[in-house]
Amino acid sequence: MLLENKIALITGASRGIGRATTFALADEGALVVLLGRKEETLRQVASEIGSRGGSADVAVCDLNDEEQIRNAAGHILQNHGRVDILINNAAIVTEMPFLEMPLEMFDEQMHVDFRAPVLMIRELLPSMITNGSGAIVNVAAAVGERGGPGSFAYAAAKAALINLTRSVGEEVKSLGVRINCVCPGPVDTELFRTSANREYEIKRGGDIMKPETVANTILYLASDLSRGMSCQTVTVRGANRW
Ligand SMILES: NC(=O)c1ccc[n+]([C@@H]2O[C@H](COP(=O)([O-])OP(=O)(O)OC[C@H]3O[C@@H](n4cnc5c(N)ncnc54)[C@H](O)[C@@H]3O)[C@@H](O)[C@H]2O)c1
Repeated sequence: MLLENKIALITGASRGIGRATTFALADEGALVVLLGRKEETLRQVASEIGSRGGSADVAVCDLNDEEQIRNAAGHILQNHGRVDILINNAAIVTEMPFLEMPLEMFDEQMHVDFRAPVLMIRELLPSMITNGSGAIVNVAAAVGERGGPGSFAYAAAKAALINLTRSVGEEVKSLGVRINCVCPGPVDTELFRTSANREYEIKRGGDIMKPETVANTILYLASDLSRGMSCQTVTVRGANRW
C-alpha cells in the first residue's frame, strides 16, 4: 500500500480523471475526500470506494465560489486533522475565439481552472508545512505548454497552473512539501467528448487515453515513489506528437 494512513483531497472527483484518481488513491490505502458540486454523485462514488474496501468522505463545493472553497477546506481540516495529498483536478473548458469570448466567461474559466487551485493551496499548504510533509498535484493540460487556438483562456489558465507549480514548488521544497503537475493530452472523458477539437484530434490519428492512465501518473506524483521530484511537469500524451 503506497498511501496507507494518508488523507487525500481530490477536486472534481465525480467523473473522468478525478473519479479514476480517487479509485487509484483509495486502492493504495488513502482516505479520499471527494470534492465536487453534486452531493448525490459524490456519495455514489464514495459508496463504490467503500464496497471495494476503501475509505471515502465527500465535500460539496462550487470551485467558482471563494467562500465555499474556504469553508470546504476548513471543514476537511477540522474533520480529518490534516490533508497529506491535494489533487487540483477540477476544470472547465471554454472554447471560443479570442474576440468573441465574453469577459464573464473568461473570468469563470480563470476562477475554476486557476484561482480555485491557488485558493485551495493557500488554505491547505500551512498545515502541510507544519507537518513537514505534503504532496500537491496540479492537473494542467498539454495545451498549457503549447497554446490552444480557439481556447486561449483554458490554455492560459493551464499555463498559469504550470508556473504556479514551478514557483510555489521552489518556495516550499525545503519544507517537505512537493508540488508537481501533470499535463495530459486527449483523454476519453466528458470534457473531451464535448470538445470542439474532438473530431480534429481523432482524424489526425491521435491517441485518446483512458482516465486511468492519467490517474496512475497522479498516483505516482502523490506517493513516495516520486520522492525527490518537485516543481516538475509530467506530460502524458500517449502517441500524440505535440
Ligand atoms: N479530458 C481531456 O482530454 C483532458 C486533457 C488535458 C487536461 N485535462 C484536465 O484533466 C482534468 C480533469 O478533466 P476531465 O477530462 O476528467 O473532465 P470532466 O469534465 O470529466 O471532469 C471535470 C470535473 O470537474 C468538476 N468541476 C467543474 N467545474 C467545477 C466547479 N465549479 N466546482 C467543482 N467542481 C467542478 C466537474 O463536475 C467534473 O467532476 C481537468 O483539469 C482538465 O483540464 C483533461
